[in-house]
Amino acid sequence: MRIVVGESAAAAARVVADLVERFIVSAPRPALGLATGETMEAVFAELVRRHREEGLSFARVRAYLLDEYLDLDRDDPCAYRNVVHRLLTAQVDMGPRAVHGPNAQAVDVSAECARYEQQVQQASIGLQLLGIGANGHIAFNEPGSPLDSATRVVELSEQTRADNIRFFGAGRSAPVRAITQGMAAIGAADRLVLVACGEHKADAVARALEGPVTEEVPASAIQLHPNVTVVLDEQAASGLVRRDRGVRSGGSATAR
Ligand code: F6R
Repeated sequence: MRIVVGESAAAAARVVADLVERFIVSAPRPALGLATGETMEAVFAELVRRHREEGLSFARVRAYLLDEYLDLDRDDPCAYRNVVHRLLTAQVDMGPRAVHGPNAQAVDVSAECARYEQQVQQASIGLQLLGIGANGHIAFNEPGSPLDSATRVVELSEQTRADNIRFFGAGRSAPVRAITQGMAAIGAADRLVLVACGEHKADAVARALEGPVTEEVPASAIQLHPNVTVVLDEQAASGLVRRDRGVRSGGSATAR
């Protein structure tokens, strides 16, 4: 596992964008796994900047979302498909058909989970971006998720709903349910890039990277993956004990 610590969230986002750029430039038909959430917003913004100012092309990229809320209208701005369209796809040379995700409007949700599981498997994700919840979730695999779980409907934890209410604005509550890729599909990606910024992530990061591998901290499963890069800012890294092991610091942090 490589751990890169940038001096700020912006520096961390640049490191992640470097990794994504290298991947999409070099892979013949890049299949990119996308997470959503606040941490990814800075990464998407940096990728859009590179597209506009440096000509980085996404034309060959196929993207696959980790998860999607259930029980939202199709055009709800908080639906992850719409978030990714607004913040990334619509701003680069990538058509909406190049972005895949679970269909939260499906009548038969179980069948939809099975369909998406197979689609992701066939896509063979080359690089999977991951955020981490303050409770250690990855995608919407909440604590207690089996490490071999498949794409499925999950109930979001109270903590996740409370953390995500900020995206929904006044008068709304956060959805109770979501479809999420399971732990097995995430682990099947060739490379994982987990990103975390802010002090509120420090405890989850320390448990995921330095604690035992356990279903209680789903992100700890990344310890089992052969090709993982973790990109942090100083605050998110502040709970790590083994800071000297593979950690590079600084605003110009780079990762290979
Ligand atoms: C959402 C997802 C989640 C988020 C996590 C962190 O697609 O995969 O696991 O990455 O909840 O969210 P933020 O970045 O908002 O703290």
